[in-house]
Amino acid sequence: MTKASRGRLRRALPRKLSRGWERAVFAAPQSGADDEPREQVLEGPGAGDEVDEARVAAAIEALLDAAEAAAADGLTKQTIVVDDRRRLTYDARHGHLKTKTLDAATARKVMGGKERLFRPDRSAAFLRAIGIMNADGTISTRHARKYKQISHLAELCRPTWERVAKRRELTDEAPLRVLDLACGNAYLSFVIAEALRLAEVPLRLHGVDVRDDLIARARGRAAEIGLEGLSFARATIAAAYAAAETRDALGGPPDIIVALHACDTATDEALELAIRSGAPAILCVPCCQHELAGQLAAVDASAPPPGNPAIPALLGHGLLRGAYADALTDAIRCELLTACGYQVDVVEFVGSEHTAKNLLIRAHRRRRGAVDPAAWELAAVADACARMGVSPSLLRRLEGAPRGA
Ligand SMILES: C[S@@+](CC[C@H](N)C(=O)[O-])C[C@H]1O[C@@H](n2cnc3c(N)ncnc32)[C@H](O)[C@@H]1O
Repeated sequence: MTKASRGRLRRALPRKLSRGWERAVFAAPQSGADDEPREQVLEGPGAGDEVDEARVAAAIEALLDAAEAAAADGLTKQTIVVDDRRRLTYDARHGHLKTKTLDAATARKVMGGKERLFRPDRSAAFLRAIGIMNADGTISTRHARKYKQISHLAELCRPTWERVAKRRELTDEAPLRVLDLACGNAYLSFVIAEALRLAEVPLRLHGVDVRDDLIARARGRAAEIGLEGLSFARATIAAAYAAAETRDALGGPPDIIVALHACDTATDEALELAIRSGAPAILCVPCCQHELAGQLAAVDASAPPPGNPAIPALLGHGLLRGAYADALTDAIRCELLTACGYQVDVVEFVGSEHTAKNLLIRAHRRRRGAVDPAAWELAAVADACARMGVSPSLLRRLEGAPRGA
């Protein structure tokens, strides 16, 4: 940074930053699309009316020093994120400031020309925490796809909470209660929580996962976003429902049980728990499935139907058998949910070009009241499974057979 460019910035910044700023981002100009972006982020004093003038003046001096050091290291592309709507950009080599405002037209451009739920100007903290918005307040093309996916996902979940809201009034004292089983990095939790914040629906959401590191990260991200009513704890799916910590966190039984890509038969554990606890609504995206593929491999493909599929090649070729096992597993899950009193629909969660595990099973309990396993109509599903030579985990669990058999 030359003396002249530092002088230019020193003259302009006090006026532009009189109410503070969020952060500064110093980046190296990118030479190729594949280059890993090199950048440094410097948190600012915060923005708003309460920011102290003397503190801002001192912070501007520190900012100029840091900007000069970063420029000497090649990080000449510099941005000051003033707030969710305004950014100052300049090249440190000449110090000419440009103000960029995220007006409605620019926001729409970022959103791919469509109105989306998570607008960059009103969901900035959320979009940053889940890695979609860059530190400098932009959404790059490599994140555009994920950005569209989460907006779409929130829209798919919306009918479920709207339905719960029709059944009972959601208030601060009696908020919507969501239990996220096998929450992992909790992206889905954050998507739901941000969508509900925007819809002004009071929420308590509790996420559980067996991995301590993911729970710690989810807690950190929740604090970063500043979303209220979220908590995370290390627990297995099986232990989560009865755990005092879950009850304390939610303040009552869950209205919606969520399981997104819970590995293999962990999806069945989650569905069993949801059904046994009489959860009013379930949102489930199944994960990889190996159980039925193994069982189908042992079935004699040459034996005549019923029992085997009418087309033996479905069992005779490994790839076809795998695809058949996947579809069969999810179809049986849907049948079992229906047999246990749920209304079920299946929608595409994200396009199949992104993941093969792209089914979202949405289930709503038809009746209120205590769960009565004697009323579950499992026999027809059990009979069909036996004829096909399969014994799926969820069926065994609901029939009360020993787990893990
Ligand atoms: C593929 S990740 C999905 C995480 C998250 N729901 C998502 O979609 O980003 C599967 C997660 O399931 C967790 N998991 C697997 N079995 C579990 C169990 N029995 N109880 C709790 N968590 C489990 C794993 O630790 C992992 O974080």
